[in-house]
Amino acid sequence: MTAPKKLFIKTYGCQMNVYDSERMVEALGEQGYVETKTAEDADMILLNTCHIREKAAEKVYSELGRLKPLKALNPNLKIGVAGCVAQAEGEEIMRRQPAVDLVVGPQSYHRLPQMEAKTREGSKALDTDFPEEDKFEHLKSRPKAKRAPAAFLTVQEGCDKFCAFCVVPYTRGAEVSRPAAQLLDEARNLVGRGVRELTLLGQNVNAYHGGMTLAALIRELAKIDGLERIRYTTSHPNDMGDDLIAAHGEIEKLMPYLHLPVQSGSDHILKRMNRSHTAESYLRLIEKIRAARPDIVMSGDFIVGFPEESDADFEATMELVRQVRYGYAYSFKYSTRPGTPAAERAQVDPAVADARLQRLQGLIFEQQQEIQQGMVGRELSVLVEKPGRNPGQMVGKSEYLHAVHIDEANAAIGDIARVGIVGAQRNSLTAREI
Ligand code: 5AD
Ligand code: SF4
Repeated sequence: MTAPKKLFIKTYGCQMNVYDSERMVEALGEQGYVETKTAEDADMILLNTCHIREKAAEKVYSELGRLKPLKALNPNLKIGVAGCVAQAEGEEIMRRQPAVDLVVGPQSYHRLPQMEAKTREGSKALDTDFPEEDKFEHLKSRPKAKRAPAAFLTVQEGCDKFCAFCVVPYTRGAEVSRPAAQLLDEARNLVGRGVRELTLLGQNVNAYHGGMTLAALIRELAKIDGLERIRYTTSHPNDMGDDLIAAHGEIEKLMPYLHLPVQSGSDHILKRMNRSHTAESYLRLIEKIRAARPDIVMSGDFIVGFPEESDADFEATMELVRQVRYGYAYSFKYSTRPGTPAAERAQVDPAVADARLQRLQGLIFEQQQEIQQGMVGRELSVLVEKPGRNPGQMVGKSEYLHAVHIDEANAAIGDIARVGIVGAQRNSLTAREI
């Protein structure tokens, strides 16, 4: 028997890339690969990349430059680029970095085994098609290996919304939902392998329509014995249907946390972003969600310095944040993405955008801390995921997605522990089991 080939995969960007990387490891596993945690002993290095902002894309080229010398040490080493940079830049990647052997876009991962074989014959392999066949049908390996208690499951991919700043419709393609039966099957497989919490993924997850709505899919998933928690991300305000809102009040396994990006609090900017909702309609929506589930923790995404954003537009964003009170929020300085409509418009002075970002992040941080502090003294449930740094300590997530450190824990990995929260740090809570 020949020794297994080693695969090192590095993942950038969103949670969907994390899910895709797992699929790629499984697909190449059938070609005799085992995963390694170091690039130095790998026979294949794959970078699963992100194109969402300029910095994310540039990181890939500097990483490729660092990896190139490894080829002199291991003549069998092949280097591949997957993900959204692969989709957006294609062959250009091999031109800029000739050490790259393989470029594969997100819709072609099921073709990776054949592509790998091609590189072993000494050829370059490139595939950035949007094929007709169902990628997931082909990636449906059924491994039995044990899994961590919290897992991702992609239910929907791509986007038809075309926000003026965003590359996703170009890199991930048109909106496609996976059939519900296929998802329930995969969910049962994952639960059989130790998974207790599933996060349903999609760039527009609440637009899911694979034979049923997202709310109906969640209701079906909730019937699976052993699956204890369900989450979903990322949602668009316009697809937040009444049945999904109701589900938050009715389905116990659906966790009280919702990521619902709004991007800006200014109606003028929202219009220029092609968001087709207003600040007011977003606030009313959150009222409805909170009526269904009063304790829900809200999370969001914001872009500051979008072309034409005035001081007044930015103040409207600050005001919206004050009204929502976020438990988490991610804010970014606008980054010009070639090929998107906003790239052609008058850009905001970068120093002004920086100052706005700092103020927004300051406000978000205050809100985050307030909500975390508010957890002290409460009884929560924690899905235990791994041992902590201190002896006897375990770490997991609360219903609200806060990281929780349990001291002197009896609970094991995969257990859902009832705890009392005794303290709040910057990024986590500390707790005692009850
Ligand atoms: N510049 C800055 N931030 C962006 N995002 C998406 N595109 C851009 C861009 N061009 C942010 C949005 C989105 C999150 C995933 O990334 O806030 O919700
Ligand atoms: Fe980045 Fe978007 Fe691609 Fe995820 S889908 S990797 S966030 S560009």
